[in-house]
Formats: sequence, C-alpha cells, structure tokens
Amino acid sequence: MTQQPPPGDPDLPERVATIYGEDDLSTVPAFAGGFINFGYWARLPDIAGRPLSEADRIRSEQDLYRRVLGTFDRPRGSTALEVGCGRGLGCVLALEEFGLGMVIGLDAHPDQIARARTLHEALLTGPEPGSAAAKYRGRLDFLLGAAQRIPLPDAAVDCLYSVEAAQHFRDLPAFAREAARVLRPGGRLALTTFFARNQDAARALPELLPAYADGLDVPHVIDDAAAALAAAGLRDVRVQSIGDAVWEGYDLYMAQRPELRDEWPRRYLTAYETGLLDYYVITATAPGAAADVPAGTATAGAARAR
Ligand SMILES: C[S@@+](CC[C@H](N)C(=O)[O-])C[C@H]1O[C@@H](n2cnc3c(N)ncnc32)[C@H](O)[C@@H]1O
Repeated sequence: MTQQPPPGDPDLPERVATIYGEDDLSTVPAFAGGFINFGYWARLPDIAGRPLSEADRIRSEQDLYRRVLGTFDRPRGSTALEVGCGRGLGCVLALEEFGLGMVIGLDAHPDQIARARTLHEALLTGPEPGSAAAKYRGRLDFLLGAAQRIPLPDAAVDCLYSVEAAQHFRDLPAFAREAARVLRPGGRLALTTFFARNQDAARALPELLPAYADGLDVPHVIDDAAAALAAAGLRDVRVQSIGDAVWEGYDLYMAQRPELRDEWPRRYLTAYETGLLDYYVITATAPGAAADVPAGTATAGAARAR
C-alpha cells in the first residue's frame, strides 16, 4: 500500500514521509486504536492511582479530539475540515458526537489518506440503507493535500480543526493564510499540538528530543504560531495551555510499559517540566460577519476541487 510521496516534496520532508509511510506510526505501542496523539488525560478517572489500559490510551486520544471540537459553538450541521487527519478516526468522532453536517479529512501523506479511505469505506461508499451508519452517507470525505496548500475553494468550510499535526508544518504562516482563506466569514478554527515556549526553548529542544533533531517536528514557538494566525487575518486568537492534562498522563502510561519505559518519548514530560515545551489549544475566528452567517452555509460539498 505504501506510496512514497515524490522525493523533495516540500510539504512532506523525508522523515515525515517515512514515519507515516512504511513505518506507520499508528502501529507504535505508544499510541493505540489507530490514533496518533499524546492524548488529553484530564477526563479519565484517577489516572495516577491505577494501571492504565490500552482502552484508557484510546480514550485519551479521543478526548483530545473532544477537547478541540468542544471549542466550537453550535457545530451541528456545520461543514468541517480536519487538517492532518491521519486515519480519519477523529473525523468520524466529529460526525458521530458533534453532529457536524459534513467532515472532510485532509492529510499530506498518500498512505494516511489510503488508510482512512479503507478504514471508513463503509461510510464513504454508502452504508446499508436502514443501518445505524446510514445517516452519515455523503457526509465524510478524505482529501490528499497539505496544510500549506489546501485543495478547497475560498470560504468552503464553517470550522477547521487540527489535532497534533502542526508540529510537522514547515510553513505555519502559509497554513494560517490557507485556514483564513478556506473558512467562511465568521468561521472557527481550533488547533491543538505542542509548541516551544520561546525562542531559547526552540533552540534547546533538538538536544532533548530526537524528533526535532531528525527533522520530524519543527520547534515552532507558540507566540509565533498565534502571530501567524493573526497576521493571516484571523481574529480573536486565543491560546490556552493544556500541558498539565497531556504530559503527565502520557508519561504514566509509558512508565507502565516495560518495553517503552526507557524510550526517548518519555522525555516530553521533562521538556514540559523544564519549561521548554507545552501543549496548547489555539482558537480563532475568520474575519467577517460571524453572527449573520449560520453554520452550514459553507460551500465545500458543492464546489470543492478534488
Ligand atoms: C501525529 S499525526 C496525527 C493524526 C491524527 N490527527 C491523530 O490525532 O490521530 C500527524 C498527521 O499529520 C499529517 N501531516 C504531516 N504534515 C502535514 C502537512 N503539511 N499537511 C497536512 N497533513 C500533514 C501526517 O501525515 C499525519 O497523518
């Protein structure tokens, strides 16, 4: 199934192409259930006082989606774009739990899009009439494309969200401009991932975390990310730290797995505790008459390019 993106693709550097291609990061035991994120652990009961199961790990990854999607005011019926959708599990969660009218998952890696299409084939090709899933018919789609060049027309979506993907984007200002372009006036953006806390931290992180040293992740500084969104014309840009709900739970889970215990991923908690790194939710609104435009007026379904 592996389809390597063309070498030299600026949107998908070699390390990113490999880890989501032949290495299929979702199969690494630090993750579970097909998701690939560190998880939001604050809604799981008593995580410090008990063994953490794989089901807990999956729930943490789903809860990160719930944390992000929960920032949208009245999303029911809206058209949403997820940027960096991986296997598309968060797109289906958005449909099922948040009542979105249409969800488009975008990912820059052809293998991830192929996996998402295979996994959700029944929803994409039309579930059995009368089945529980029949109501999702025509409301899910997956597109190959990069955050920096979103293959959708202007004002195509009511909401745009992204979960643990922006650390890979080489050009955050280009993503910000694309987000502002594809959101309808008054549309909402919600993005979550980890960022360097300041410029000094961005310089120090590659020493501690190989993912920065080997070109998988970019140590974007949180203030620069927020400034890029504002410079693209998005307004009401708000940044919230959620690191206390992410790193400790993830580290507890890793500590309970002997095969993972001494691996470098546990250094994320160190990076958080020493003030280098934090996990954030950023929200923003596209310029225009928010109150005048009801959700569901975006045009993605009708007009987008494939
Ligand atoms: C850590 S995974 C997160 C996947 C999913 N959001 C989740 O939480 O399970 C990051 C995803 O972003 C995708 N990605 C990397 N760079 C991208 C880019 N420039 N534009 C769009 N997607 C990108 C990767 O292919 C991968 O599927």
